[in-house]
This record gives sequence, C-alpha cells and structure tokens, in this order.
Amino acid sequence: MKGRLEGKVVIITGAATGIGRATAMLFAKEGAKVVVADRNVEQGQLTASEIKKLGGDSIFLSADVSKACEVKNMVDEAISAYGKLDVLVNNAGVLIRTSRLHEVSELEWDLTLNTDVKGVFLCSKYAIPYMLENGGSVINVSSTSGIRASLISSSYGVAKAGVISLTLTASQEYAENGIRFNAVVPGIIDTPQSRGSTGSTEEFELRVSENPGGRVGGPEDVAYMMLFLASDESSYVSGASFVIDGGRTVGF
Ligand SMILES: NC(=O)c1ccc[n+]([C@@H]2O[C@H](COP(=O)([O-])OP(=O)(O)OC[C@H]3O[C@@H](n4cnc5c(N)ncnc54)[C@H](O)[C@@H]3O)[C@@H](O)[C@H]2O)c1
Repeated sequence: MKGRLEGKVVIITGAATGIGRATAMLFAKEGAKVVVADRNVEQGQLTASEIKKLGGDSIFLSADVSKACEVKNMVDEAISAYGKLDVLVNNAGVLIRTSRLHEVSELEWDLTLNTDVKGVFLCSKYAIPYMLENGGSVINVSSTSGIRASLISSSYGVAKAGVISLTLTASQEYAENGIRFNAVVPGIIDTPQSRGSTGSTEEFELRVSENPGGRVGGPEDVAYMMLFLASDESSYVSGASFVIDGGRTVGF
C-alpha cells in the first residue's frame, strides 16, 4: 500500500527536535523524501539518520532560517539532492520568555521576530520559485499565542500573528499557481521549547493540569494535522488556520 505522501519532496525547518522532528518521522513513514533543515547540526543529523535507519529517505541540511544566504543555499541543495519540491513546512521557531513590554530588550524582540516570522518569509521566498510550475503546499507553524494575548512573550505573539497574516496573503497570491498555504496553530505541546519557556517543571505541570482534560498535546498531534495539509487529501484547503489545543482557546 502506498503512503499518503508517496514521492513528495518535503523541506521541514526546525526538524531537529520537537514538532518538526515528529513531523519528519511521520512524513518519511508516509513515503516522503524529507529534507531536515535546522541550525542544530547534531540533533538534525540524528533525525535524518533515524529516518534512514527505518528505511526512509532523508538528508540533513544546516541552515539558520533568519539568514537569507543560508536559506537560499539550503533550498538549492535540497533541489540538487531531490530535483523538485512539493511541500515546505515552516516550523523553526524560538520562544523567549520575556518581561512586560517596556522591559523587553531589542535583542529579544529581534531574535524572536527574525526567527519566527522573517524565517517564514525567507524560506517561502526561496522555496516558492520551485513550486510555481507544479504547485505545492506550504504549512506555516503559528501558535495560539498569535490569536490571543501572549502572556509570556509579546514579541512571540506578534510573530505568530504575523505568520497567520502571511499565510492568508500568500494563499491569495499563489492560488493561480496551485500553491496552497495553511497555518497550524498549536496550543501547549510537550516539547523542549514549551518546557523551557515555562520556567520550571512545577509550572509546566500546572499548565498541563489547567488544560482541558488535564493533558497537553504531543508533537504527533500537530504532525498528523500537517500530514493532511501536506497530502493531496487537502487539495481544496488553502488560507486556513487549524487550532490544535485540545479545546483550550475556546474554553477561556
Ligand atoms: N511546543 C509548543 O507548545 C508550541 C506551541 C505553539 C507553537 N509552537 C511552535 O512550533 C514550532 C516548533 O516548536 P517546538 O515546540 O517543537 O520547539 P523545539 O525547540 O523542540 O523545536 C524548534 C526547532 O527549531 C530550530 N530552530 C530555532 N531557531 C532556528 C533558526 N534560526 N534556524 C533554524 N532552526 C531553528 C531549533 O533548533 C529546534 O530544532 C515553533 O515554531 C514553535 O513556536 C510550539
């Protein structure tokens, strides 16, 4: 039986750990050739080699998504390796816990915006030309912090709201080329990022207990939504945002 992504070439940024890693593993299992792109070389190589060990097809490419020349090289190398591009998952992101707005440093602001929204712009900018002829699917990872108050980082909320805006606009700009743009909007997902940004294990456990059903999501919960958006099953889905938060956002 064929996989749901059989033959598709996919770039996933931030695939060294967390949601990106789970997505890379799932996509490979479903028959995709997976480019693992990350600035974390050691963990990124591990993801790619794990996929290969399981019989999948993957390469690791080192890139900082906030740097245009590194992104351009990464996309060019992906094309040299696999000859085409069908899916781009803009997943790389940082969340820096910050103080109230007047105490946020320019460095914290720039680091967040440069990674979380400029990174999405740059990866899209260099990947889209390879999709113009045959179409494709671009999946942008936002956050519920982008659709409600972002209590631990104002810059993160701004960046993730920007990701949704960019998704809406691009879906209109490239509809004629058959390129679909969608956003996933995760709530709390158990990853290194969410644990690191919470402050302490106790605070993380408190957030878990406050979530509907007393649980938070796992990286696979987001990966399965992205599998649908990457596949041809979602061919009529574009410009949409999908909240994956166990119902938390509508409950408050
Ligand atoms: N975990 C959550 O609760 C949650 C909730 C909502 C949204 N998100 C978003 O999901 C995405 C994945 O996060 P995660 O929770 O898996 O975190 P994570 O820290 O496990 O993974 C993020 C990955 O991005 C990479 N990365 C960071 N900056 C980069 C850069 N400049 N260039 C290249 N790679 C870079 C990291 O090396 C890491 O591998 C992020 O965009 C995050 O904002 C996470």
